Amino acid sequence: MQSAPGVLPVNLGIIMDGNGRWAKRRFLPRSLGHDAGMKRIVKLVDSVRAAGIKYLTLYALSTENLSRPQEELDGLYVLFRRYFEEYAPRLVESDVEIRIIGDLSALPQDVAEKMTAVCARSKKDAAFHLVFAVNYGGRAEIVRAANLAAEMGGKVTEENFSRFLYTWGIPDPDMIIRTGGELRLSNFLLWQSAYSELYFTDTLFPDFDEKELGRALREYARRNRRFGRV
Ligand code: FPP
Repeated sequence: MQSAPGVLPVNLGIIMDGNGRWAKRRFLPRSLGHDAGMKRIVKLVDSVRAAGIKYLTLYALSTENLSRPQEELDGLYVLFRRYFEEYAPRLVESDVEIRIIGDLSALPQDVAEKMTAVCARSKKDAAFHLVFAVNYGGRAEIVRAANLAAEMGGKVTEENFSRFLYTWGIPDPDMIIRTGGELRLSNFLLWQSAYSELYFTDTLFPDFDEKELGRALREYARRNRRFGRV
């Protein structure tokens, strides 16, 4: 689905990088950096919604992240459990749709089930949509879609191909913010980011507060989005 021109992004994507360094700077274990990252998500969802943005897409775990040490992954799964037990159900009750993109089959079964159960209770026509990319990789998503399209047969077009992506029904991200200083997309929404405005900041994700969000949104409003036209 083509993203829309306007002063505010309809869908804001965030690559949440820098939790590990945030912890290291404080001589804390990496797990506490992720914990601070989860607390940041809780606040950011409120700020993004209050700003009038309709979709927030968060890169919570890439397919490549699954090769991290088991201890770190176990710590992340503890946070996923906590988020989907304590915070996500309250959001669903306050008119938020929660959706997961990615392959949940590689996650511990109880985590996958908790996530799926909350998503199933969400209303598709909610006022705000929170999308978590979990065990997600853009290339894997495109290959999966290509296989599904091949099974269907017939001519592939951009429009019918996008129906096989995890993101079907979600507008393309108008802006993608990456925290933590790296200047790359790291396999996030490769198909969908064709015309996304990219915004990179050195701020580490746990420090990405409302003020930083405001700075990014003001920058977005200044961008001249031409979608390939003159
Ligand atoms: C990248 O920082 C972050 C991740 C791999 C995980 C993101 C997870 C959270 C923000 C918290 C939990 C999420 C949910 C949905 C409850 P990094 O560890 O690569 O940081 P570094 O580059 O400084 O090492």
